[in-house]
Amino acid sequence: MVKKVAIVTGANRGIGFQVARQLLYDFPGDVIVTGRDTAKGQSACKKLAAEGLKPVWHELDVTQSASIRMFVDFIRENYGGIDVLVNNAGTVFEKDSPLSMYRQAELSIQTNFKGTMSLIRYFLPLLRPHARVVMLSSELGKLSSLGKELRKQIDLDKVTMFDLDKLADKYLAAIKAKVWSEYGWPDRILESISVLLNVFVYALARDLKSDQRRNILVNACCPGWTATEQMKTHLDESGCLGGVEARSPEEAAADVTRLALLPSGTSSPNGDTVYKRQIINIRD
Ligand SMILES: NC(=O)c1ccc[n+]([C@@H]2O[C@H](COP(=O)([O-])OP(=O)(O)OC[C@H]3O[C@@H](n4cnc5c(N)ncnc54)[C@H](OP(=O)(O)O)[C@@H]3O)[C@@H](O)[C@H]2O)c1
Repeated sequence: MVKKVAIVTGANRGIGFQVARQLLYDFPGDVIVTGRDTAKGQSACKKLAAEGLKPVWHELDVTQSASIRMFVDFIRENYGGIDVLVNNAGTVFEKDSPLSMYRQAELSIQTNFKGTMSLIRYFLPLLRPHARVVMLSSELGKLSSLGKELRKQIDLDKVTMFDLDKLADKYLAAIKAKVWSEYGWPDRILESISVLLNVFVYALARDLKSDQRRNILVNACCPGWTATEQMKTHLDESGCLGGVEARSPEEAAADVTRLALLPSGTSSPNGDTVYKRQIINIRD
């Protein structure tokens, strides 16, 4: 009998850790806890084991193709396919990060966007029918965040991974030259990255609708402001950011887990950006 498997990236801490934990309770198969640092990953797995859970650890740095390839080989040999993929690995910077805006944008593009895209490229052939793919993103990533000319470059019916990859490079070049506003990009890095991710999710789901493997659902999940290690430095004394109360990692993870466990045969949400269980219209 085929053994079901769920994968969570960047699962050694924060939201990813809680998603792995919740999947270990509710997913009927193995849950692979992945991260780029073995010591941190193993210590996370120890915490989960102390609750009586049985995580499987594997190292995975989503920015390193050799690391992705080794992990894909492990999955292929041990499971032959995948049922759930949660792309959670990402960069969150503390409030007074000493890193320049360019370096923060570069790390975010490399991890959250390009890392996610390469993982998907490798795992696409391994997705089983009824697989669920969830990307951590933000509801801030709407097309209306972009300037008019930039927005025209994204046709949701046709846009490809390759187009988005090139757009991400253009974004970084605009940041480097300090002309992002002139080129129609928002000031917040999270907003720009999330537009790219949300459009990527839309395009991937669009293409998978005509795939022979039926009912594969791909969604982006906005966790909302969540009080994880770095994010805490952005919160005021009442635990709020911009007047919005931050959620606990457990609460944010519950929304992610729900999308990862959408029952077989469900058709919606798909290709959507979901925030607090509501579909956000990214065309707005
Ligand atoms: N927290 C929020 O308010 C918020 C809001 C919107 C979106 N998000 C997104 O939600 C996701 C999780 O956020 P979080 O707050 O839980 O972040 P976090 O606490 O900083 O955790 C991020 C995780 O990603 C891992 N990671 C970083 N680079 C990696 C790489 N190259 N390969 C593999 N793993 C890597 C980190 O590993 P290390 O421990 O080794 O660094 C860590 O396990 C991120 O994608 C973030 O952008 C968060």
